[in-house]
Amino acid sequence: HLPTHFHEPVHIAVIGGTGLQKLEGYHPVATVNPLTPWGHPSAPIHILKHNDVPIAFLSRHGQYHQFAPHEVNSRANIAALRSIGVRTVIAFSAVGSLQEDIRPRDFVVPDQIIDRTKGIRPFTFFEKGVVGHVGFADPFDGKIGKVVSDCGHALAGDGVRMHDKGTVVCMEGPQFSTRAESNLYRSWGGSVINMSALPEAKLAREAEMVYQMICMATDYDCWHSTEDVDVAMVMGHMEANSGNAKRLVGAVLDELSKSEHADLVKGTHWEGQSTGMLQFM
Ligand code: ADE
Repeated sequence: HLPTHFHEPVHIAVIGGTGLQKLEGYHPVATVNPLTPWGHPSAPIHILKHNDVPIAFLSRHGQYHQFAPHEVNSRANIAALRSIGVRTVIAFSAVGSLQEDIRPRDFVVPDQIIDRTKGIRPFTFFEKGVVGHVGFADPFDGKIGKVVSDCGHALAGDGVRMHDKGTVVCMEGPQFSTRAESNLYRSWGGSVINMSALPEAKLAREAEMVYQMICMATDYDCWHSTEDVDVAMVMGHMEANSGNAKRLVGAVLDELSKSEHADLVKGTHWEGQSTGMLQFM
């Protein structure tokens, strides 16, 4: 049994998506389950030590993958991570590809998002008299994005194909897109599509956390052929490439745990607006 409290601040977190439900090969030191004003996170947060640096790992869809994308309590997830000290979030996501050149099993470090959620997920900490607006023109963090891209290119020998930028279309789901929608998103310049980038990225911004998503393509969505996307296809590619996904996340954590990135991961390079939200977390 691991301790349920951890007394050092934990600055870096990995949010694992479908296919990255655990982070293996690290030394677990505690499991914490903070209660936030928005409830408990999707799963207890595992604290792992890596090169003596503590890392938090949170499974977005729950310990048993019991939360569909529209059911994930992102406010509790982000507030819980913030409450244990997290300033930098690396968020993993399985995505459909909207471009021929992004092949299933390729990785993408997106730099933009198009919001196609339906406004039915709780998507802000600002409500009930707590009023705030944050800039979101660049939803991801270019500095962490560069670290991720460099790590991906360094793994080219292991068969990792890395795309350094891209626009992720975040749709509501849980149904996949129609062919007309898929072609519309292509015409808008979408690179990949998922159901999980939002509201997570918006809430991280409101909480003054540096956030970067890593996408792994698991299918070509439905524009590419006469086939439908199905879960077996998504899981098949995910499982077949999970070794690479873990290697990539491991390389990113190796790099971020180096002392030269201390400012980056403590969020002291935060260049965004201050939201005043922190008093609640
Ligand atoms: N996640 C993985 N593949 C997807 C797709 N084609 N559409 C939406 N979310 C996805």
